[in-house]
Amino acid sequence: MLDSLMLKKKPEEQQKKSGKEDIPSVRQKVLVTGGAGFIGSNLVKRLVADGYEVVVLDNLSTGVYQRLPKQAKFVKGDIEDDDTYRVIEGCTHVFHLAAKTDARENDDSVYRVNYLGSKKVFEAAKAVGAKVIFTSSAAVYGSAPVPHKETAECAPITQYGKSKLKAEKLLNTESSLVVRLFNVYGPEGNSVINKYCKLIPNYKDIIVYGTGMQTRDYVYVDDVINALMLGMELNGVYNIGTGLETKVVNAIDMISNVTMAKPTVKFDKPKQEIQRSKADITKIRNYWHPVVDLQKGIELTLRSYGWKPLPV
Ligand SMILES: NC(=O)c1ccc[n+]([C@@H]2O[C@H](COP(=O)([O-])OP(=O)(O)OC[C@H]3O[C@@H](n4cnc5c(N)ncnc54)[C@H](O)[C@@H]3O)[C@@H](O)[C@H]2O)c1
Repeated sequence: MLDSLMLKKKPEEQQKKSGKEDIPSVRQKVLVTGGAGFIGSNLVKRLVADGYEVVVLDNLSTGVYQRLPKQAKFVKGDIEDDDTYRVIEGCTHVFHLAAKTDARENDDSVYRVNYLGSKKVFEAAKAVGAKVIFTSSAAVYGSAPVPHKETAECAPITQYGKSKLKAEKLLNTESSLVVRLFNVYGPEGNSVINKYCKLIPNYKDIIVYGTGMQTRDYVYVDDVINALMLGMELNGVYNIGTGLETKVVNAIDMISNVTMAKPTVKFDKPKQEIQRSKADITKIRNYWHPVVDLQKGIELTLRSYGWKPLPV
């Protein structure tokens, strides 16, 4: 199903109307805010490969310019700054990823960037008639019971989760796509899987906050990019996770088993965080499903840090 949706979406093909094949096709232009970030840069590479004209708007607060392919146009700017919105001119789609992404941060800037900044992005998109694809988060569910279903009563416990939920509500989801991403990991990511994949093969001590029995739904970045690409056609609010929950201690065991390195695990007092996270992916299943399981995703992430399996 995903493949059939994706195949229909090449921008050159979308421009061609029947009987007008002799008219040169114009590449569809899209804006990616936060395009120099972990997920954003992977999305930009995919959009470029699929033939889109891509403009990236990023203030490089956590993003890295060198991650971007040279075919993408980069504009250094802040989504809070009205002057930056000239870049949106001519865009048919706006992938809005720019955000303060540390779910544990609690200061005003989280609300300012993730809610007020998003509001500006959405207004600018509306003014040029561009469709919005917005990366929301599993953090909107907070302490709601698992598995998290899109229709659940959301109970975010962090500023991050609250600001994402408030931003979601600004959108008409009949004409935009909101993806509630669970824990995304993969090369260049900043998830706990990434941290442990860097430390464990080097026999470095690792710190677990809380008991380690808390669960997360870890989803590989390539799967997330496939889901974001659905935004070219799909509208609505969808969870993007695997539908599986993994205890932090079990994720550590998996990395340890793959690398055959036994880490020293130190436990520290818990941070403000939820105990269980697990997506219900029934709603998105008709269009998308994850293809990289945690075992495979861990191996790919380890390899991105230079780890190689021992020859057998
Ligand atoms: N990584 C995850 O596990 C995860 C989970 C749920 C939701 N999300 C969402 O996905 C999106 C991308 O996350 P990521 O993991 O790639 O994070 P990231 O920090 O790598 O990327 C965020 C990007 O936004 C840019 N940015 C931040 N504030 C900005 C501003 N005011 N103006 C312009 N650019 C700004 C940063 O420089 C960075 O390049 C975010 O919206 C995040 O909330 C991520």
